[in-house]
Amino acid sequence: MERTLILLKPDAVQRRLAGRIISRFEDKGLNFVAMKLLRVTPELAKKHYAEHVAKGWYPTLEQFITGGPIIAAIVEGLEAIQVVRDMLGATSGLKAAPGTIRGDYSSSRQMNLVHASDGPEAAKREIELYFKKEEIIEFAPTITPWLRAGDE
Ligand code: CDP
Ligand code: MG
Repeated sequence: MERTLILLKPDAVQRRLAGRIISRFEDKGLNFVAMKLLRVTPELAKKHYAEHVAKGWYPTLEQFITGGPIIAAIVEGLEAIQVVRDMLGATSGLKAAPGTIRGDYSSSRQMNLVHASDGPEAAKREIELYFKKEEIIEFAPTITPWLRAGDE
C-alpha cells in the first residue's frame, strides 16, 4: 500500500473542477486519508518546488501556485504513486492524453490543475511538508473487498 500527495492547484479550485477531480480518484478506488484547503505561501512554494526554483519560469509558477487557495490531500492505494501520476497525464495539458485529468481539462503547460508526487521519496517529503501526523486519518473503507482481490 502506498500514499501520495496530491494538490488541486488554484486553477482547479477557481474553475470549480475540484469535485470532479476528487471523484475521479474516488472512482478509481483510491482512498483519501487526509484533505484540507489552504493558501500556499511563497516560502512553502519554494520548498515544494525546490528542484525548480532556479528555473527561468519559476517566478510565474510561484505566482500561480500562491495566487488562490488549493486543496491538498493524501491518497492511498496499491501502487498509488504511479497510478495517480498516470491519471494526471503529461505535464502540459496540451500534450497530456485525452482521458487523463490534464488531457481532459487543461490547455496549459503551467495551469495543469493537479500536482502529484513523482516517486516514493517525493511522496514522503511532500506529505510531511503539507500534513502533520495527526491530520492523517487511517481507515479501511467497507467497500474494500469489492475493489480488489484479497491477495492483491
Ligand atoms: O507537475 P509535473 O511533475 O508533471 O511537472 P514538473 O516538470 O515537475 O513541473 C512542476 C510544475 O511547474 C508543472 O506542473 C507546471 O505547473 C509548472 N511548469 C511551468 O510553469 N512551466 C514549465 N515550463 C514547466 C512546468
Ligand atoms: Mg514534478
